[in-house]
This record gives sequence, structure tokens and C-alpha cells, in this order.
Amino acid sequence: MPRPMREKKAPHPLQEVYQHSFTAFYIICSLITPETWNLNPPEVRNAQLQYAGWGPRGQQLIFIFENNIYYRATVESRSIRLVSSGREGVIFNGLSDWLYEEEIFQSHIAHWWSPDGARLAYATINDTLVPKMEIPMYTGSLYPMGKEFHYTKAGEENPQIQLYVVNLNGPLHTMEMRRPEDPRIGDFYITMVKWATSTKLAVNWLNRAQNASILTLCEATTGVCTKKHEDESDGWLHRQNEAPLFSKDGHKLFFTRAVFQGGMGKFFHIAMSSSRPNATTDNLQFITSGDWDVTEILAYSEERQVVYFLSTEDDPKRRHLYSAHTVGHFNRRCLSCDFSNDCGYVSGSFSKDMRYFLLNCKGPGVPFSTAYSTDEKEKVVDLEMNEDLRNTLESMQMPKMEYREITTGDYSLTMQILKPAGFLDTAHYPLLLLVDGTPGGQTVSELFQVDWATVLVSSFDTVVVRFDGWGSGFRGSYLLHKVQRRLGVFEEKDQLEVLSKISEELYIDKTRMGVFGKVYGGYLSSLLLSSEDSLLKCGAAVSPITDFELYASAFSERYLGLPKPDPRAYGMANLANRASQFEDKKLLIIHPTADEKVHFQHTAKFISHLINEKANYTLQIYPDEGHYLHSKSTRQHESQSLVNFFEECFRLPDKAFEERLEEENEEEG
Ligand SMILES: *[C@@H]1O[C@H](CO)[C@@H](O)[C@H](O)[C@H]1NC(C)=O
Ligand SMILES: *[C@@H]1O[C@H](CO)[C@@H](O)[C@H](O)[C@H]1NC(C)=O
Ligand SMILES: *[C@@H]1O[C@H](CO)[C@@H](O)[C@H](O)[C@H]1NC(C)=O
Ligand SMILES: *[C@@H]1O[C@H](CO)[C@@H](O)[C@H](O)[C@H]1NC(C)=O
Repeated sequence: MPRPMREKKAPHPLQEVYQHSFTAFYIICSLITPETWNLNPPEVRNAQLQYAGWGPRGQQLIFIFENNIYYRATVESRSIRLVSSGREGVIFNGLSDWLYEEEIFQSHIAHWWSPDGARLAYATINDTLVPKMEIPMYTGSLYPMGKEFHYTKAGEENPQIQLYVVNLNGPLHTMEMRRPEDPRIGDFYITMVKWATSTKLAVNWLNRAQNASILTLCEATTGVCTKKHEDESDGWLHRQNEAPLFSKDGHKLFFTRAVFQGGMGKFFHIAMSSSRPNATTDNLQFITSGDWDVTEILAYSEERQVVYFLSTEDDPKRRHLYSAHTVGHFNRRCLSCDFSNDCGYVSGSFSKDMRYFLLNCKGPGVPFSTAYSTDEKEKVVDLEMNEDLRNTLESMQMPKMEYREITTGDYSLTMQILKPAGFLDTAHYPLLLLVDGTPGGQTVSELFQVDWATVLVSSFDTVVVRFDGWGSGFRGSYLLHKVQRRLGVFEEKDQLEVLSKISEELYIDKTRMGVFGKVYGGYLSSLLLSSEDSLLKCGAAVSPITDFELYASAFSERYLGLPKPDPRAYGMANLANRASQFEDKKLLIIHPTADEKVHFQHTAKFISHLINEKANYTLQIYPDEGHYLHSKSTRQHESQSLVNFFEECFRLPDKAFEERLEEENEEEG
């Protein structure tokens, strides 16, 4: 039905929605003539679109408006609506809802072009049954307005997802891809979609408990999905949204799977699955093995029968680029290991014909990007050397980075220590412990980073320490899965042990130690600050998770299971249990009020317990700001607040006393 023309006042050209998503006006510009076209749905002018992008062939393009997908075969042809079930905020076609954007796909895009442009696969995500979250917006109107969106907290109804393929050649024809018949896949997530050939697509289905998954190959023309591989785990399944690589004919596929490697449990390695003529089952071979992880498969060259990938083989805190043969003994070699000392953590990508690769060195030195020829491993061109940054840093007192191995149980784990440039063994420094602790995460790496903590080291003579213990990634599944159903317990013990080890050093002033963390790290830093016998004096938490029942289903349930019928794991992990233990500690909580990921509710509930216990705390809010601070001035304000908080906490008592005296004198005078 035609809709009335809608005139909108010139609003903001680009409006952020969540971390990745936004709405905007789109204009197509001709490169030959000065012509432009506004990209609008039929009958609507100046529409703010949620997405617009080219297809793989000619001038094919799609755009998404009000959660419906529109298609144009060429720039000047008529727009065709491919699907009409979309409802704003409720039924999403081709785009993610909050949960899929943030926790599953980690992208707002939920549509996939077939390589020949003949078909488009898209997800329909139905949030009808998902409870709504309401966030009050305080500024901009006399009465606060509520911003509503569907958000699944632990144990609540999840969005339902369906996958469709629409045929764009000839009359429109839409087919649903049917989930594999398997009793384990009841309430499920689709975590990955990728076209293998122009008619087949790979789809990964994961059960809600996140301990069983099925990788299928779906026939786009019939909707039948056949099982290629399945995976089960006593712990949770990790890295479920990574796409496999295919040979041109689609008969061979490469993907990573966790496989048992001995004393430290499972590590991620490259599996090669080849279909055999006249056989119903595929042939599965593992191309790599060892107690290290393949972190990303980059390319497969059929010509050379070689697969290229990144791994932690050299060291868990590094990433290097390797090649391995897919035949014979799977011989493996490192392509980036001896390029430069400044280059320990790389990412990369290959040209379509695989004759060249682009290497991004992301640390420990100043990042740079270079193109190399694959066969000769010769540099072709330096693309970006970041000379300005290099020059700036040379004139600065940058921290010195050190590593120290800590033995806990059977593990030797790495502590990272940042010391001021003018470090003296005989001086006494305050210590700041930075924690993250998100299961599967990593904070100790050779990634280059400069932030407010760097400022504390170089301008306020602080020693900064990071350590990944139980629950962290890239050290095997035993270390990782240990925290299951007991979030916080082992991480707290580990970090305290590290604190006590480092505070034995004479250069550390035990009376001036603090901790900082964000989200899960905010949870952990609060645990550490309130630990019995904790030596920590102060701690700051940004957007802390304080109660996992309030947090996103896909995250909380992965580690703690469903809260119903047995909520004990959730009860044990609740930060409120610690409310009485913040006496004589300095706690700063920073929380934006419109945080769409860790709702302000976490902090509100937690401080109500602190108040009951007469505990001291400082709360800093950012009105109407979201989880990822959109405004630059707010980001600067946050960094400055953190520096100020720790600078004050770490100030030597006599100095503080002198300043107070000075202030008093000024008041009197
Ligand atoms: C969305 O889900 C609701 C509740 O299950 C159902 O009634 C409705 O038909 C679904 N809509 C679409 C477009 O799938
Ligand atoms: C997966 O989790 C569910 C719920 O906790 C459990 O009942 C089931 O046995 C688990 N499956 C595996 C393979 O561990
Ligand atoms: C597969 O089966 C077909 C027909 O049954 C036969 O012609 C062909 O030789 C078989 N191929 C192999 C590799 O066995
Ligand atoms: C906490 O507040 C009480 C008064 O309510 C005060 O006596 C005490 O010094 C405060 N503690 C800290 C660490 O600021």
C-alpha cells in the first residue's frame, strides 16, 4: 500500500544506535556526471536508512528501512521490497537486534550476498517475546523520555532467529533454511552464516546452553541443511561466530575447532573437512596441533595447497602469520616471525590471487602496515609507518615494558609490568592493577596501547601491572573453563596472589595500591578491593556488572547456566555479597545512565546495598550517554577523572597534608 509522503526536518545526518549500528541518509553519486540520487524507499522522501550497500555484481544494491530490505538491480531501476515483516525494534530483517549485534555476530549486519549476486541470505530476528528494557533519557525535554528496546536478561525469552534466502534472478522467491533435526538444538542461536558456493551456504547452529553446535551446509534452492561437523563441550563452546574457508568447488572446508592436546586441555586448531565422492561422511583432518591456538584462518591457496593463518605458537601474548601445507606432513612455517623486533602482534590479509599479503604490525612498537609478496616474502611497499606518532613518542617519556613469569599450580603465566621511564630500584612507587578477566579474554599482549594508564605511569610515576589467570584465553581449555559456574572466585584468588608477589618488590609502596576495571573487569576490581586482607587502598569500576541475572542472556548463561530453576551460581557471583566489605576503601564507580549493555540498574542495585552497609563510595554518572561513550568530551572527562582519582589515592600522605595546610591558609587569608 502506498504511504503518504513524509517530510522530515533535517535531522542529524548520522545517528548511532548501538556499538555498530546507526541510521543515516544515503546519496548515490555518479563518478562520471554530476548527478546524485537520494536513496529512498518508494513513496518516502528523506528517509533515514539503517543500511545501504552494494551487491557483488554490476550496480546491484540493497538498503534497509524500517527493518525491511529493498533491492535495486541497478542504480536507476525501481526499488523492490524483498521482505515486509519488519517492525521497528521488534522484527529485524537483514540486521541484528541488540543481542545479536553485541553478543553473537558482533556486527549489525545480518545479511549475506551469494558470491554471484544471484541470491541474498538474510536473518529475520523476532524480538516479540523478548522483555523490554526502558532507559530514561533526562536531557532534552521537560519530562524525561523513555528509550525502549528488547533486551534478554539471563533466563528470559531470547529472540527467535530464522534464516532466509531470496532469489533475485527472475520472480522473487524466498526459501527458509531449515535447522537440522537434532534434539540438542531446541532454543538456539545462529552464530555464523557464510556462502560456500553460489548455491550453498554454511550455517552454524548453537544451542541455548552453548555446549552443543552443528555446522551445516544448506542448499539455498531447497532449504535443506546437512550436517558437516558437530561439536560438544563440558564447558561452554567458544569462538562460534568464525566463518570457515572453502575451496572454490566448496568440497573442502577449513575451520578451527578446540582439540585435546594433553596437560592443558583443548586448543584451537585448523580442521580440514573434505567431501569424498560416493561417501556420505566427510574426511576430517587436523592440519595443526600443539599447545597453542590458531586465532584466525586467513586464506587458502588451492594452487599451492597452503593455508595461511595467525597463531600464538611463538608466545601466547604474540600473534604471528604462518603457512601450513594441506597435504603431506602439513609443514608449517612462520612468515612474520623475523621481520622486526618491533613486530610481535600482527594481523593480515591476502590479495584475491594470494600473491601478496598485507601485514599490520600492531605492537609492541608503534603500529605500521606493509605489503609483502607471498612467495619471496619480500617487502613491496610500506603503506603506513605512523611517522608522526613515532616522532611524538620519541620526545616523550614512554613507560618501559617488562614481563615476568608467575607460577601458579601447573601454569607459568605472564605478568606485564609498566615502569616509568626514569625508574629507580631504590624509589617507592604506587601500583595500579588493571583487570579485565572476561572469560576467554587476554590483557597481557604485545598490542601497542596508549591510554590514561600510560599517563599515570609517565606523568605520575606509577607502576602498572596486568595479569591473565584462570578463565583467560589462549592457554588451553582447563585454564579457561575452570571459572564455569563460579565466576569471580578463581580470578580473585589469582589476582591477589599476583598483587602479593609484586608487592614484595622493594620498589612498590604497599600502602599505595589501586585497581581498575571495566564491565567484567569492574566486577573483578570491586571483588578485589573488598577482599578480606586485600592490600588495595582504592579501586575504580566503569560500567561494572554487579549481578549476572541483570546481564545479557548469551553472556551470563554461557558461564553460569540458566538462573532457573537453580539460581545458586548467580547468587554466589552477586557483588552485593561484598557490600559490607568496602569500609575504609575508596571506591569510584563510573556509569553512563543510558548504558544499553550494562544497565545503570547494576550500579543502582549495588549502591543500595552499599548504603545499607554505610559504606563509602563515589559515583560519577554520564547522563544519557551509552555504553560506548559517543561524545569525545565525555571520553576525555572520563579519562581525566580516572587519572585524578588514582593520582589522589596515590598521593603521599605528607604531600596531601601540606596541600591541606595550604588550602586552609588560603581560606584564612
Ligand atoms: C514473531 O513472534 C511472534 C511470537 O512468537 C509470532 O506470533 C509472530 O508471528 C512472529 N513474527 C514473525 C514475522 O516471524
Ligand atoms: C549442556 O548443558 C545442559 C544444561 O546445563 C546440560 O543438561 C547438558 O548435559 C550439557 N551438554 C553437554 C554435552 O555437556
Ligand atoms: C562413484 O559412483 C559412480 C556411480 O555409482 C561411479 O561411476 C564412480 O566411478 C564412483 N566414483 C568413485 C571415486 O568411486
Ligand atoms: C567513610 O565515611 C565515614 C563517615 O561516614 C568516615 O568517617 C570515614 O573516614 C570514611 N572512610 C573513607 C575511607 O573515606
